[in-house]
Amino acid sequence: MAKPIFILNGPNLNLLGKREPEIYGHETLDDLKAVCESRAKDCGLAVDFRQSNHEGDLITWIQEARENASGLIVNAGALTHTSVGLLDALLAVPVPSLEVHLSNVFARESFRQHSYISKGVKGVICGLGPKGYELAIEALAAMIGQGGKK
Ligand code: DQA
Repeated sequence: MAKPIFILNGPNLNLLGKREPEIYGHETLDDLKAVCESRAKDCGLAVDFRQSNHEGDLITWIQEARENASGLIVNAGALTHTSVGLLDALLAVPVPSLEVHLSNVFARESFRQHSYISKGVKGVICGLGPKGYELAIEALAAMIGQGGKK
């Protein structure tokens, strides 16, 4: 089997299901993890699913993906809109990476409509809730099947 894909979740996503459910839904992070594992299994991929409230953890994990992952899905939460460090880490990853947001960031406050990290990823999915993660897994599986270069 190929190396796993990393699915990395940033600040406050540990509160999924409790936090602003009208925006982020009622499913918990564990529910989301289960959905991702099942979809990845269908695609023949293993998943390493993580969450941290700390920017440095996410940067370290993205660096780890350089050696240990076949692809990367990142929901950086609020760090999306602030972090050049995450962008630089993503630019240094040789495997395909995708940015995902549960909510439609373009239909929200103006500060959410700019992502620092989009320049470092192959594509962006937003506004589709957990389905967005499933679609990202499918897309990554196709890219990995085609050689998996960035
Ligand atoms: C989010 C959107 C971000 O603007 C926000 O800060 C989050 C979650 C999303 O998944 O919709 O924490 O990344």
